[in-house]
Parts: sequence; structure tokens; C-alpha cells
Amino acid sequence: MTGQNMKDLYQSLPVWEDDRQPLSGRKRLAAMEGPLLGWYERRARILPWREEPTPYRVWVSEIMLQQTRVEAVKPYFRRFMEELPDIESLAAAPEERLLKLWEGLGYYNRVRNLQKAARILVEDFGGNLPEEYGQLLKLPGIGSYTAGAIASIAYGKPFPAVDGNVLRVLSRVLAIEEDIGSPSVKRRLEAELKEVMPQTGCSAYNQALIEVGALVCVPGGQPKCGECPLGSVCLAGKQGLWDRIPCKAPKKPRRIKQRTILLFVADGRVAIRKRPDTGLLASMYEFPGLEGNFGPEALSELLEQKWPGHIAEIRPACSAVHIFSHVEWHMTGYVIRLDTVPDGWLFASPRELSEKYPLPGAFNKYINLINGEL
Ligand code: ADE
Repeated sequence: MTGQNMKDLYQSLPVWEDDRQPLSGRKRLAAMEGPLLGWYERRARILPWREEPTPYRVWVSEIMLQQTRVEAVKPYFRRFMEELPDIESLAAAPEERLLKLWEGLGYYNRVRNLQKAARILVEDFGGNLPEEYGQLLKLPGIGSYTAGAIASIAYGKPFPAVDGNVLRVLSRVLAIEEDIGSPSVKRRLEAELKEVMPQTGCSAYNQALIEVGALVCVPGGQPKCGECPLGSVCLAGKQGLWDRIPCKAPKKPRRIKQRTILLFVADGRVAIRKRPDTGLLASMYEFPGLEGNFGPEALSELLEQKWPGHIAEIRPACSAVHIFSHVEWHMTGYVIRLDTVPDGWLFASPRELSEKYPLPGAFNKYINLINGEL
């Protein structure tokens, strides 16, 4: 057996901890490496961005994966890479096309920032992502997690990538009872992880932590401690504290907004309009709407007053709820058939809705309804 093989074997053995002499936090974190890397080699999922981890692909995938499940991201990632295969094409893409490619993923500022950063990269970095962690951190939309992920996964540099999943894993390993939403806890864990992470193999190391968070030390429910490669070092696991750790400060309740959605139809098309270029869902398209929850009579009166002679029929349609991070839309819909179309309105066919105009996922139920209607 070679020296390297001996080292690998030794490192992959679980840590034996004497309860009378518990490991220090640093030693506990350092002890994760062997079991973590061994487990990742056997259990890592095959994912499109892992097949060819170029800096661009890692960057785009990590931005897509923020707040979004892996399975939901896969088709978006494939389509994005097909249409915008490099930083130059991303920088040059028309905003409407970009938003269409992101349609349904939500948090649309993510893709706007991707493009802002791509334009800086074309201007100042010859169309490449820099290798330097500090330079990555200065780009729009790139925080410590994404900078660490690009530096480690694409460039093999030993920087930690601590997202919500990794915070959950580390807070359990170390039995941290502070609020993991606190920036100081995250900064401290990043600093401690940087001290102990391997100098080579850091791509696998960071992705292994992410993978344990996704597959084993799962959010919202009982973690699969029996399958966990970190079982021998995890304090929360040993002490049965998984339902108390991580600790999170309660979130402010979301504001609830009532909206009335107006599906004006005429000649096989439906009316849409572009939203303002700032604020929620900036520059996306939407069905016209009114603030508040209108009953059929009140709505009929209002529409007849505003567009006398245009309205042929008003029919109540379905209700829908859409949850954003800070607000919930509670929507009531109406299909309104027009006899004649008022000047200056924009209408879209079902095909244009699906291929051209970016509409937020909030309207999915109404898009389906309209497709059946037209
Ligand atoms: N979530 C965030 N980053 C990820 C990655 N690189 N692979 C799988 N899930 C992730």
C-alpha cells in the first residue's frame, strides 16, 4: 500500500471520540474531511453543471440554484446554456429574451445581475470570470457563497462555499444554538471552514457539504442521521438535537395583497402589459389587474365606465394564490370578452405568451385557463 493510499484509508475512517474529551470545534470540523470526501465519491448525483464545471457553467448554475430546487433548475440550466453558451452571449442578450429564459424561476434580479456582471467581464476581464476570490466578490450578484463556489469548483481554490444547506449541516455538526440567519454566525463558520478545508480537492469538499445538506441533513423534517457520513462527529446527531438545531429567528409575516386579474380577450388573443422597470417583477409582462378584490357587479360598473361600449361579457374565472418572499398575491380572475379593442393595447396569442413575452409564474393558472379559452 502506498503512503497516499494509507492516508486516504486513514482519513476515510470515522473519528472515534472519547466523550470525556470532546473534540474542539476546529478539530471537529477538520475531522469531517475524510468521511465527507469518501461519501461524495460514492454518492454524488450526476448533475448537468457537474459534468463540465467551467467557470461560466458553475456561475450560472449556482445563481439558478439559489432559492430553487435542483430538479426545477435542470431544464432551465440546459436551455440557458444552449441559447447563451458563454459570457459574451449573455452580455449581449436582449433583456426580454433573458427574462423569458428565467421565466418561472423567480427572483428575477438574479438574472439581471448575471447580465450586469457579464457586461463588466466583457469590458474589463476579456470575457472571462476572474480566478481571484476578491475580484469575484466585487461583481454584481456575487456574494461570499457564489464567489467561494466558483473559486473552488471551477478553479480548485480553497475557499468555503457556505449557503443555507451548508449552514444547516455545520450548525448541527457543531451544535450551534445561535440564529443561523445572523451574518456574524455565517462569517465565523466561513472563517473556520477556510482554516480546515483541504488545499486540493476543495471542489469535491464544498460540493460534498452541499450534497449532505440536500440529501441527508435535509431541511424541514427529520434528517437521515443513519446515512450521514458526518455521524461520528456531529454533536446535534449524537445529542438528538436535530429538531432544535439549526435555530432561526422567526420571519416577519408576509403582506397579503388582494388583486383582481383581468383577462381581456378578443380575436383569439389576450391583453397583456409590461410592468414598470423597477420593483417587484420589474420589466416582466402581466395581465392587467386592479388592486383589491372586485365582485362581478363592481367590476362591471367600473369597466363600463372606463371603456363604454367595448365590453361584451364578463365572466368570473378561477382564484389563485402566489407566494413571493415578502408578499402574497391573493388573486381573483375574470375573463372579459371585448367587442372592440381600445386603442394602444397590447395583445398576445397563446404562442406569443409561451415563446415571446416573459410572464411570471404567478400567472400560470391564468395562462392555462386562457390557453383553453382562446
Ligand atoms: N445547490 C447549490 N449549489 C449546488 C451544487 N453545486 N450542486 C447541487 N446542489 C446545489
